[in-house]
Amino acid sequence: MRSDYCGSINRAHLQQTVTVFGWVHRRRDHGGVIFIDLRDRAGLLQVVCDPDTPATFKTAETLRNEFVVRVTGKVRPRPEGTTNANLVSGEIEVLAGEIEILNPSLTPPFMMDDEQLSENVRLEYRFLDLRRPQMQKNMQLRHRAAMSAREYLDKHGFIDIETPMLYKSTPEGAREFLVPSRLHDGFFYALPQSPQLFKQLLMISGFDRYYQIVKCFRDEDLRADRQPEFTQIDIETSFLDEREIQDIMEGLIRHMFKQTLNVELGAFPRIAYAEAMARYGSDKPDLRVKLELTELTDLMKTVDFKVFKQAASLKDGRVAAMLIPGGAALSRKEIDDYTTFVAIYGAKGLAYIKVNDVTKLNDEGLQSPIVKFMTPEVLGEILRRTGAANGDLIFFGADRVKVVNDALGALRVKVGHEKGHAEAGWRPVWVIDFPAFDYDEEAKRWNAAHHPFTSPKDEHIELLSTDPGKVQAKAYDVALNGWEIGGGSVRIHRSEIQAKIFEVLGISPEDARAKFGFLLDALQYGAPPHGGIAFGLDRLVTLMAGADSIREVIAFPKTQRGQDLMVNAPSAVTETQLRELHIRLRQQEPKA
Ligand code: AMO
Ligand code: AMP
Repeated sequence: MRSDYCGSINRAHLQQTVTVFGWVHRRRDHGGVIFIDLRDRAGLLQVVCDPDTPATFKTAETLRNEFVVRVTGKVRPRPEGTTNANLVSGEIEVLAGEIEILNPSLTPPFMMDDEQLSENVRLEYRFLDLRRPQMQKNMQLRHRAAMSAREYLDKHGFIDIETPMLYKSTPEGAREFLVPSRLHDGFFYALPQSPQLFKQLLMISGFDRYYQIVKCFRDEDLRADRQPEFTQIDIETSFLDEREIQDIMEGLIRHMFKQTLNVELGAFPRIAYAEAMARYGSDKPDLRVKLELTELTDLMKTVDFKVFKQAASLKDGRVAAMLIPGGAALSRKEIDDYTTFVAIYGAKGLAYIKVNDVTKLNDEGLQSPIVKFMTPEVLGEILRRTGAANGDLIFFGADRVKVVNDALGALRVKVGHEKGHAEAGWRPVWVIDFPAFDYDEEAKRWNAAHHPFTSPKDEHIELLSTDPGKVQAKAYDVALNGWEIGGGSVRIHRSEIQAKIFEVLGISPEDARAKFGFLLDALQYGAPPHGGIAFGLDRLVTLMAGADSIREVIAFPKTQRGQDLMVNAPSAVTETQLRELHIRLRQQEPKA
């Protein structure tokens, strides 16, 4: 049958007779000679049909894009001047002896080399979209990345154990997908948000080191880096502390980048959460960007500008500056556009100072709508703290901490990349020393910042009863070029501390028993100290592929609205199906 892949034939095959299978990528009629670019998963091959073999030539005349064919012919050099250095097969062509049409094709909805396709059309015809060379490359990259992860984890003694997909509803963070039970009227399974508790139980069972490349399900609002079902490289180990876990996991990411991209990542720096927020306004800082935030909250408590003064005086307020070297050259329109951009994050404005002359602390040296509200002393201090020089621009954010960090954090990345303040390459970073809890102002209660099974730092256990806001967790994230690619923690392995955490979270002992009875029980039978991490495989591969959405590296992804446009999911079901599941729809009569 097949002797070679189309895209792999090269000079070494000269004079050989080959048989290849593939799709017609393009057909070109060159007055008497027909050229066919034949495509398979390895790439393109130029096939030449000349009228000297009339039957073959006749078949070639009927070929159209995406017909699937078998070609047998002899490999010969391409004529001088017609070689293509971009293709493995660029120096040769195959003179067709025989062509067999294995299946014709309807006219495809798009050309396989069109770069300007609407994503909806691509998703509707995903089986064709996946034929495009870029998508073939992305899927092969994903495969290599997953293989390299398995290789590393196997070598380090981690064993692959599967965990259930039909699980139970537990408050772990995100909203869950529910699955009604036919056998148990009125009861539901939930799809797991992650195998978190199963992997902890596997540690208690003594497996010591576990991993799984596994689907997780979260009914969240979707974005470019989020899907309702996505894949984690999920890992857990026993008897290691945070540092040791981080070291092994960092080794995994290094191995994956070396094996798939031949990139050496080097050691990952560590940064405390509080420092990341203060300097970058983000807990997943893009360290390629050289811009930083400067703290001004203390300085702004006394200024005449009400907006700044008020924000600086709030309990959870912040005033921060961001220096843009050379930014005085920004146009009015650019500043307006950036102002519109930060509004997405809730910022009510974007004050700025263009620094024309650092020696003149007034309207003359500093061009700005806010200079008039500030004394020369304050202006001098702003220049000193930001390190501003002539020709620079300083942006300001003043609001609640979260708004300032979100707005300036996002602006930092945007301006950094648009205005040449970012370097190329890979900048991984561990973010550590996370707070254990976030306060939910609306519900007036504490939420687990990571998940409720994360261990507080030993020296903060006392604070659980007195000041939960100050408790830090043994939790860590890895960010890469501004994306959160992984997160994990050391877990609680003692039932009395787990009970204490549930208490802080306002989960009553009865509720805790109903939801996590199995975990509380297991913790009382010799649970080893343990911890782990999960990496987002989709995000890792997206970064490796240089793509801008994780949909580019998932074979059959959902749209931003959670739909599969090809199979048409979600979809209505029949009344009979609903009856079997003991379900009556509330809003409307069943559609089918
Ligand atoms: P976490 O919720 O941080 O941790 O998830 C781990 C990693 O999974 C990726 N990720 C996603 N990728 C695509 N779409 C999504 N909707 C999505 N949500 C998360 C991110 C993230 O860093 N059980 C814990 C891990 C642990 O503690 O060991 C967990 O699931 O890259
Ligand atoms: P105004 O006095 O409202 O015209 O604002 C003066 C300048 O401050 C303008 O450049 C606004 O964009 C900016 N500004 C207003 N509110 C804020 C804020 N909360 N943070 C940063 N800049 C602001």
